[in-house]
Amino acid sequence: MKFTWGILPWAYLALGKPSCRCLYGEKCWPKVSEFKALASQLSQPLLRPVPPESACYPISDPSGNCTDVTANASDGRWRSQQPGSMQAPNFETFIFANGTISACYLDTTLGVPCNQGSVPVIGVDARSVSDVQATIKFVTKNNLRLVVKNTGHDFLGRSTARNAFLLWTHNFKNIAYNESFVPEGALSQTRYKAMTVGAGVQWYEAYDAAEANGRFILGGLSAGASVGAAGGWVLGGGHSAFSARHGLGVDNVLQFTVVTADGKYLTANTHKNSDLFWALRGGGGGTYAVVISATYLTHDPVPLTGTFFLSNFSTPAIAQDVVTEYVKIHPTLGDAGWGGYSFVSKQGLQFFYVAPNVSSADTNATIDPFFRFAQNATAGTSQSFIVSYNSFYEWYSSLFLTGEQVGANTEIGSRLVPREMFQNHPAKVASALLAVENGISINFVAGGAVSKVDPDSTGLNPAWRKALGHATFGVSWKEGQPASEIQKARQQLRDGIKTLDAVAPGSGAYFNEASLYEENPEKTFFGSHYKKLRAIKAKYDKDSIFVVAGGVGSEDWDGSLNCRL
Ligand SMILES: Cc1cc2nc3c(=O)[nH]c(=O)nc-3n(C[C@H](O)[C@H](O)[C@H](O)COP(=O)(O)OP(=O)(O)OC[C@H]3O[C@@H](n4cnc5c(N)ncnc54)[C@H](O)[C@@H]3O)c2cc1C
Ligand SMILES: *[C@@H]1O[C@H](CO)[C@@H](O)[C@H](O)[C@H]1NC(C)=O
Ligand SMILES: *[C@@H]1O[C@H](CO)[C@@H](O)[C@H](O)[C@H]1NC(C)=O
Ligand SMILES: *[C@@H]1O[C@H](CO)[C@@H](O)[C@H](O)[C@H]1NC(C)=O
Ligand SMILES: *[C@@H]1O[C@H](CO)[C@@H](O)[C@H](O)[C@H]1NC(C)=O
Ligand SMILES: *[C@@H]1O[C@H](CO)[C@@H](O)[C@H](O)[C@H]1NC(C)=O
Ligand SMILES: *[C@@H]1O[C@H](CO)[C@@H](O)[C@H](O)[C@H]1NC(C)=O
Ligand SMILES: *[C@@H]1O[C@H](CO)[C@@H](O)[C@H](O)[C@H]1NC(C)=O
Ligand SMILES: *[C@@H]1O[C@H](CO)[C@@H](O)[C@H](O)[C@H]1NC(C)=O
Repeated sequence: MKFTWGILPWAYLALGKPSCRCLYGEKCWPKVSEFKALASQLSQPLLRPVPPESACYPISDPSGNCTDVTANASDGRWRSQQPGSMQAPNFETFIFANGTISACYLDTTLGVPCNQGSVPVIGVDARSVSDVQATIKFVTKNNLRLVVKNTGHDFLGRSTARNAFLLWTHNFKNIAYNESFVPEGALSQTRYKAMTVGAGVQWYEAYDAAEANGRFILGGLSAGASVGAAGGWVLGGGHSAFSARHGLGVDNVLQFTVVTADGKYLTANTHKNSDLFWALRGGGGGTYAVVISATYLTHDPVPLTGTFFLSNFSTPAIAQDVVTEYVKIHPTLGDAGWGGYSFVSKQGLQFFYVAPNVSSADTNATIDPFFRFAQNATAGTSQSFIVSYNSFYEWYSSLFLTGEQVGANTEIGSRLVPREMFQNHPAKVASALLAVENGISINFVAGGAVSKVDPDSTGLNPAWRKALGHATFGVSWKEGQPASEIQKARQQLRDGIKTLDAVAPGSGAYFNEASLYEENPEKTFFGSHYKKLRAIKAKYDKDSIFVVAGGVGSEDWDGSLNCRL
């Protein structure tokens, strides 16, 4: 018996890694002197992120400017410049188990004191490989919860966490175009016209650089094009209106450079660390390593034709008729390399599509039968326009440099809708779309080239290769709503997903634009690639320092992602 007492503590020390991360506010949190030692190794002072809205409260940082915050709250580029900001401010908040919300609301008249919520309290403004290496070493040594953040666009809040330590990649802004790029380790001398973007480069910067070099680069499209070009977007898949022509982000990336959990600076491509390269292409952001740069294939620019359509529905029967016809046309459009964005609701249908390297006459010939159908069904009240553009850059500049898409409390749900459903069950798809409360967006960003890629050549969810549309819908709420109202909105998400499941049998969802409340996230986000992704993660991130909601390996952690199960 005596021996047991002697052995137990020893066994505990040897086997028992701490099961929870050390969080800010706990005794284990590093001392000021330890942070000072870290700071001495970095190129920049340590960051003390705050919710940007804190500028509107008396206790705020004195340099804060509430006028500025209010004026820019819906500006994606501005939000991405604030280390403490998420694009959807609900992710800056934290809901305690008892329903109390820690938040810093922009609306000061709510009378709620400003609190830190889910914004990390301290972090690193990384600008060099050694900044990232020092951060990883510090976080590992002190068992901290790490979050990697780029622009904060994440729809699952994966780039922030309460009481965590932030690694901010926003200022990795290098861009280099290379007309004769050869991936490291390649045996063949095949040269690519490629562009390498640093981890903090955003699409608007990448588009400007590609244009300056007379090239086209496939990327994300949103108001202000502020989504990151080398972070979560590509790591989760990366879709574009040009995907039916050129594939997804993961199909265009030639090489990554990364820092892994053991601090190594590696190149990952099909020749070097090819397993890691496979996982980085679609296996999810914040999971395998910190990306330092991504090198993309670029393409010859072509002229293109835009199609704009708007129709209001006066009866449910008209809605069903027009939306069924709309669903039907997609297989043909996808095969011809078209893509774009639509919104369907009981009230109406609108879309703007683009046909790269297709003349306006050919575009008209393709879409005119649908226009006629819709005109007849809506008694001549539908509107359509066909517009020619000289280039992607002209199209992008005229449509994406204005408008607002962020700054509201939002969560979303989604499904990848298979081509087979568009083709063989259009009426069923139409009724499901029309049944989603408050309408649904169809991102027409698959089919064509996306379907031609071998599903197993990248870690991406294979459901993408069979899909033609990515259907997403959102819920939103005014700030200051109690947790009970937020729960109701989340229930609406679950209900919408059930409705969509009927038209996406056996399919899945796009990890970057999906719900946190999936019943089977492993299958839904990664499909048959899950096991292999998990094995690659175990190889490159032995201590699991990279953990994100819904991500590969997250099932080993509790709901807070701070304690191992
Ligand atoms: C307004 C808006 C428009 C959008 N438009 C598109 C679109 O056109 N096409 C599309 O496919 N998606 C689109 N998205 C979704 C977008 O792809 C995701 O939000 C994606 O997660 C953004 O990545 P980020 O790096 O910019 O954002 P962040 O929120 O900063 O990061 C997202 C995730 O990636 C991880 N991450 C970021 N940088 C790194 C890095 N260097 N190394 C490792 N992990 C990293 C983070 O840890 C986090 O898990 C849009 C989102 C919004 C809000
Ligand atoms: C606050 O921001 C506004 C708008 O950007 C600017 O006009 C004003 O001068 C700023 N005020 C201070 C005190 O910096
Ligand atoms: C923020 O808003 C102000 C006022 O509209 C504007 O002058 C300023 O340029 C904006 N800042 C950024 C970074 O967009
Ligand atoms: C809810 O829990 C938080 C965190 O434990 C605590 O600070 C707060 O006082 C609690 N609120 C109520 C109303 O019990
Ligand atoms: C372009 O890539 C090639 C091959 O990888 C390399 O030798 C060359 O130095 C690069 N050029 C520039 C300008 O970086
Ligand atoms: C664009 O289309 C024309 C014919 O319509 C074709 O000759 C040309 O090769 C195409 N360009 C590209 C880059 O696909
Ligand atoms: C589009 O095609 C239809 C049918 O061929 C034709 O009647 C119409 O004039 C065309 N519209 C334009 C703008 O070319
Ligand atoms: C026009 O619409 C009516 C009903 O609104 C329908 O009966 C008819 O078949 C339609 N014609 C065409 C050519 O689609
Ligand atoms: C559709 O309805 C909206 C408002 O509900 C209106 O602004 C728009 O002009 C209508 N469009 C058409 C084509 O009738």
